[in-house]
Amino acid sequence: MAIISSKPQPPESEKTQIAQSAQPSISPSAEPRPTQSPTPRSQQNQLQQNQPSENEALLEPAATVDEVGKQEEKIRPQRISEYVGQKSLKEVLDIAIKAAQSRQESLDHLLLYGPPGLGKTTMALILAAEMGVQCKITTAPALERPRDIAGLLVSLQPGDILFIDEIHRLPRVTEEILYPAMEDFRLDITIGKGQSAKTRSLPLPRFTLVGATTKIGALTSPLRDRFGLVQRLRFYELDELTQIIQRTAEILATPVTPAGAVEIARRARGTPRIANRLLRRVRDYVEVRASGAEVNETLAAEALELFNVDPCGLDWTDRRLLTFMIENFAGRPVGLDTLAAATGEDAQTIEEVYEPYLLQIGYLQRTPRGRVPTPAAWKHLGYQPPESQLALHLVDTNPIQTSNA
Ligand SMILES: Nc1ncnc2c1ncn2[C@@H]1O[C@H](COP(=O)(O)OP(=O)(O)O)[C@@H](O)[C@H]1O
Ligand SMILES: [Mg+2]
Repeated sequence: MAIISSKPQPPESEKTQIAQSAQPSISPSAEPRPTQSPTPRSQQNQLQQNQPSENEALLEPAATVDEVGKQEEKIRPQRISEYVGQKSLKEVLDIAIKAAQSRQESLDHLLLYGPPGLGKTTMALILAAEMGVQCKITTAPALERPRDIAGLLVSLQPGDILFIDEIHRLPRVTEEILYPAMEDFRLDITIGKGQSAKTRSLPLPRFTLVGATTKIGALTSPLRDRFGLVQRLRFYELDELTQIIQRTAEILATPVTPAGAVEIARRARGTPRIANRLLRRVRDYVEVRASGAEVNETLAAEALELFNVDPCGLDWTDRRLLTFMIENFAGRPVGLDTLAAATGEDAQTIEEVYEPYLLQIGYLQRTPRGRVPTPAAWKHLGYQPPESQLALHLVDTNPIQTSNA
């Protein structure tokens, strides 16, 4: 502690400056851009990365959120060639980019959907970099009032990308402003109220809306239909995750053996964000417990056991969900709300974060009457699946368990 406190602290004003400059230049904002031609994104990111490391060390704890965000920006792929996996998505977008460029048009509106951490935001930023345009980032819940979205729309330059995260949560008024904006590049604003209300139309530059959602089913169909491209992101294969871990390890200057990378990849739930997070945990562990040795299979496994990540990538919450279903329902379907109430997790989080992977690895089944853990899940958690469970859960008619499916 004495060492830390004896370090010279920057004056208050300097700290603020550091914290501000650590903010990504792509943060949600509707500010008018400078009249100069915009700096290409790849360069902008470089600017952020070139922050002196001395300043980083002096950041107050309050700024650590920025710090983590900066690390995240460092390891985020910048170009389509660095984006691992998602072969069919890349093919589709590659064609779209080339076609748009040859016609000197903006890209068609694009909707990306899939579980969190699979690379939706990353892809939106890459698209902007590939097209050489700016990307404005916002999230649907932040667009509460008509003027929030109107401000963003009028700040766009031709070809720009407007990225709206969690687009299934758009307020209705905002969604209605987006329809003519997406379709006819027109901003309709209503002035006044009641009978004297008038609608004015402003022309907008041709822009590209990229929407991201974990819940495609929650989008209204008029909105969904206005996207020219609708693409699903898939969970990553083991070799792709291994490649991502090796790439990140290189950026973080952490030596990892090939087997060590595979061991981390196996536990990453098919998700790059989790792969990178686990790598950081393993790196910490190895630094402290093995004085900075190379990350090998054994050390990776040891570290991740310590962090409660099992060899299938299930964490504490996954196991709790499955165990609850097995112990209390013995293979009968369980409704989402029951699961939420019993485990203290938010129903939406269960549905959008935990379930997709459990479904993917075949540990969970969704039936019209609720969720059922499969025999594989029973075995993984050390339970013997009852004979009846092996085939009968689909014909179970217990009305109590089915009411909130
Ligand atoms: N295809 C990929 N190749 C390499 N790294 C990736 C890829 N997709 C995602 N990542 C990494 O995972 C992290 C999370 O991705 P992100 O785009 O934020 O996910 P989402 O927006 O779908 O939740 C990023 O910081 C990036 O480093
Ligand atoms: Mg995202």
